[in-house]
Amino acid sequence: MDKIVIEGGQRLQGEVRISGAKNAALPILCSSILTGGRCVFHNVPVLNDVRTMGRLLARLGAEVEGERSLTISAQKLTDFVAPYDLVKTMRASVLVLGPLVARHGRARVSLPGGCAIGARPIDQHLMGLEAMGAEITLSHGYVEARAKRLVGARIVCDVPTVTGTENLLMAACLAKGLTVIENAAREPEVEELARVLVKMGARIQGAGTAIVTIEGVDELQPIEHAIIPDRIEAGTFMVAAAITRGDVLVRDCLPEHLDAVTAKLRAAGAEITAEDGGLRVRAAGPLHAVDITTQPYPGFPTDMQAQFMVLAAIADGQSVITETIFENRYMHVQELARMGAEIHVDGRTSIIRGRPALEGATVMATDLRASASLILAGLVAAGETEVLRVYHLDRGYEKLERKLASLGARVRRVHVAGEQ
Ligand code: EPZ
Repeated sequence: MDKIVIEGGQRLQGEVRISGAKNAALPILCSSILTGGRCVFHNVPVLNDVRTMGRLLARLGAEVEGERSLTISAQKLTDFVAPYDLVKTMRASVLVLGPLVARHGRARVSLPGGCAIGARPIDQHLMGLEAMGAEITLSHGYVEARAKRLVGARIVCDVPTVTGTENLLMAACLAKGLTVIENAAREPEVEELARVLVKMGARIQGAGTAIVTIEGVDELQPIEHAIIPDRIEAGTFMVAAAITRGDVLVRDCLPEHLDAVTAKLRAAGAEITAEDGGLRVRAAGPLHAVDITTQPYPGFPTDMQAQFMVLAAIADGQSVITETIFENRYMHVQELARMGAEIHVDGRTSIIRGRPALEGATVMATDLRASASLILAGLVAAGETEVLRVYHLDRGYEKLERKLASLGARVRRVHVAGEQ
């Protein structure tokens, strides 16, 4: 098992390239199930979660080749089961449910149990498929869905769920008739999935808005497509530049996907300018406290909350962060407190009193974004920080420590034999 060791105090400088978006790649790989052909995806991030999805699709009978450019041939699927051993490692495996029912009339997917950041039920996914005529049964920890052919329906979601919208969007593409999804998620990754489906021949209107309309077709064609950049990876580097008082050009990101993050960084005192197909982040002076409330897109992303807590921990003044999406997304707080951060949590609200500096310590990663925040904290801490259990990080960041080192950070990965 690996750990990452950081020596704090370096100002980040230079430019960094952003990889493809994990949360766009995962549903897009699943959409290949909808076509009876060979899809080719480029700019695929090389991550453990993407590898897991590749293994799942192979388990269903698809041929999966490549890494950065991934070819998926889903002509002859031989199975329709997403087993517990894969789903337990990555809840996004649930994204095969909609495409399998829509194309093969049957799916058996392990229920993705609880998660470090919250209960995360999939009731909306199931409610939508049932509305489209699927017969849903739950047994022995699995959900089974069956339908000769799904039928278009009006689906009103209780919450704008990202993977829920994606599952129903994919299912509706091959349903008979018209489907309307109301209170749909508006995330750029949902819009990107719709872009891919339309390229395959789907008829979709309103993706990226709260009301999405899909007119079902009989079949979809395989395509070739390059995946959008990862806005959360880009946001993570923008925070890294600001907290180290650096000067970094974050390349290959889409500024329009980062408006909420950019606004909060500017409010904290960072200077952000669009440049060369990216964003330059400079921060010379002191950082100011900022209040943040996480919201569905286009609001402030919950996947950037932990990273911003590090900024708040060293900013002048007191910040209030409110997490509205997940009920248990403060696992990083106790670890940051070990580094001297002053954070008081009361339910979904945390009050952070900024301090001049943090202290290096040994800390434990608990989930993907929490691990990113601990790495960021190490960049601004006095002395050395060791972040354990970085397998969480590798699920969603491609070579984060190497990219940081290329910007001047003193950071390295160390392999440790045995448990941490
Ligand atoms: C997606 O998760 C992302 N994952 C998450 O990113 C991200 O944090 C989240 O959206 C919110 O932006 C992927 O895209 C693979 P939701 P998802 O369904 O789809 C409740 C990361 O760090 N809900 O939009 O699972 C749910 O409990 C990960 O990259 C229901 O109640 O999130 C939560 O409170 C972490 N019933 C809220 O909705 C449902 O059926 C939003 O969850 C579905 C969701």
